Amino acid sequence: MAKRWLEVATIHDIDDDEVLQVELDGFPIALYKLAGRFLATADECFCKKGVLSEGFVEDDHIVCPECDGAFEIKTGCKVEDRNLVLKRYPAKIVNGLVVVGISVPDEEE
Ligand code: FES
Repeated sequence: MAKRWLEVATIHDIDDDEVLQVELDGFPIALYKLAGRFLATADECFCKKGVLSEGFVEDDHIVCPECDGAFEIKTGCKVEDRNLVLKRYPAKIVNGLVVVGISVPDEEE
């Protein structure tokens, strides 16, 4: 599988310790900024399908707005049940833009 990098935001769209919903290839993901570093996860939570980008960041965790579950943003693991892991996406900065990687079949590279 190859990786394709898509622009999702500028570096000024989000402050440290915040979360923002952005669109990646037509679907919503959650973009975070922790100590100047950008990270991205799925935006949909598990049990009641909470929208994580409507939650809040606390101590490097995202707290779900639906039922207060907390996920470690760097690993995607739910604090209360580490078997529940959010899908994570690689993110980096290119020319002042935040780009997020998605896997694509090799022939689309
Ligand atoms: S929907 Fe239940 S913890 Fe997020």
